[in-house]
Amino acid sequence: MGAKLLCLVLASALLAYSVYIPVPEVFEEPWKVMFIMASFRVLGRLAEVTDQLGLVHYTKLMKLIIHLEYVPPTSDENVTVTDTKFSNVPVRLYLPRRPSDGLRRAVIYFHGGGWCTGHPGMKSYDCLTRRTSNRLNAVVVSVNYRLAPEYRFPVQFEDAYSVTKFFLQSSVLSQYRVDPDRVCVAGDSAGGNLAAAVAQQVKKKDEDSEVEPKLKAQALIYPPLQALDLNLPSYREHENSCMSPKLFMVRLWSDYFTSDSSLPEAMASNRHVPAESSHLFQFVNWSNLLPEEMKKDHVYTSPVYGSSELALEHLGFLDPRAAPLLVSDAQLRGLPPTYILTCEYDILRDDGVMYARRLQAAGVPVTHFHAKDAFHGMMSFISGPASLAVGHRLLNRYIEWLNENL
Ligand SMILES: *[C@@H]1O[C@H](CO)[C@@H](O)[C@H](O)[C@H]1NC(C)=O
Ligand SMILES: *[C@@H]1O[C@H](CO)[C@@H](O)[C@H](O)[C@H]1NC(C)=O
Repeated sequence: MGAKLLCLVLASALLAYSVYIPVPEVFEEPWKVMFIMASFRVLGRLAEVTDQLGLVHYTKLMKLIIHLEYVPPTSDENVTVTDTKFSNVPVRLYLPRRPSDGLRRAVIYFHGGGWCTGHPGMKSYDCLTRRTSNRLNAVVVSVNYRLAPEYRFPVQFEDAYSVTKFFLQSSVLSQYRVDPDRVCVAGDSAGGNLAAAVAQQVKKKDEDSEVEPKLKAQALIYPPLQALDLNLPSYREHENSCMSPKLFMVRLWSDYFTSDSSLPEAMASNRHVPAESSHLFQFVNWSNLLPEEMKKDHVYTSPVYGSSELALEHLGFLDPRAAPLLVSDAQLRGLPPTYILTCEYDILRDDGVMYARRLQAAGVPVTHFHAKDAFHGMMSFISGPASLAVGHRLLNRYIEWLNENL
């Protein structure tokens, strides 16, 4: 009771303090955006405070949103929706009802939520995947991978990859009448990270002819793609943004790998990479990889190295299955046509921009759409009172790209 009362008092104080946030002029619907930003700021602060007081781990508060937003699998006149399991991983399956002339296309979708929250059954994700299925007359597999901190890297990746491998089997594809040459992976935020990592793994295994067929495309929606350099221009400019402030992102990254608090401390000061791994910095060198308008007058400084013990214990953050930007150009060659959405008001902006640039240089067809009037996560604001016109536009653009490229 004491803890609850304390939370309530803290929440009210924070609400009063946080409501007014200047919203950049480029944003449409500024009042709605301000309200959304304020709510996220309050939630973020509340999670931070209760976590520091040792009351509740912040991920518990973040998981609450799953329960608040949960909708059971519900079919409608266009799409049959069921919860099932693929390769022992729970998935929500969307099967279009409209007849199809031939075999159907398919999208394997990974939701966002910082590897520690999110669910295919959240209203916003259900709406997104349902609409994708209906508009493309495609089968959509929305993957309910296991979450941190109960499960850590590589579990999230392994779940995402096993579902993909399972679905790509010819017997499964034919059961759902899916064209083996028209399957893609897609995901937003942490889900975009998983989609990029899965696409790399499928390509790698395909070269060893272990997984067939290939993926037709990948769509990466504001993905985090590396935790090597956490001082990119976008990190500097949006360090205190409401949706994904730097210290929060550091926490999400480190909780993906370990409970050891020395990792987030080292990451916060960008001294977490050991000198032995210095060769990896070329893959995230923003001084070469960002366009001038994003570099602005930020000054590139050489990396400062940390202790090797740290990395040896938590090798995850140097592993391309967690950080798809950390592979060589040769390993990028042959990846499927790619859609990347980045948002201007997002610390993860530069991860996506650099990946688009590197894929292009490796000869991969890339459609990079940079939304100048959007913040991190905006493509999920498509249902209920928090529905935003820009969210619908971003979603339509993504579906249009899939329609033309899948
Ligand atoms: C079914 O599809 C039609 C045509 O795309 C659309 O107008 C309608 O809203 C859809 N129904 C639902 C429940 O989404
Ligand atoms: C990054 O690029 C700059 C400019 O090309 C170069 O001077 C610097 O040595 C590079 N740093 C790393 C770590 O690759």
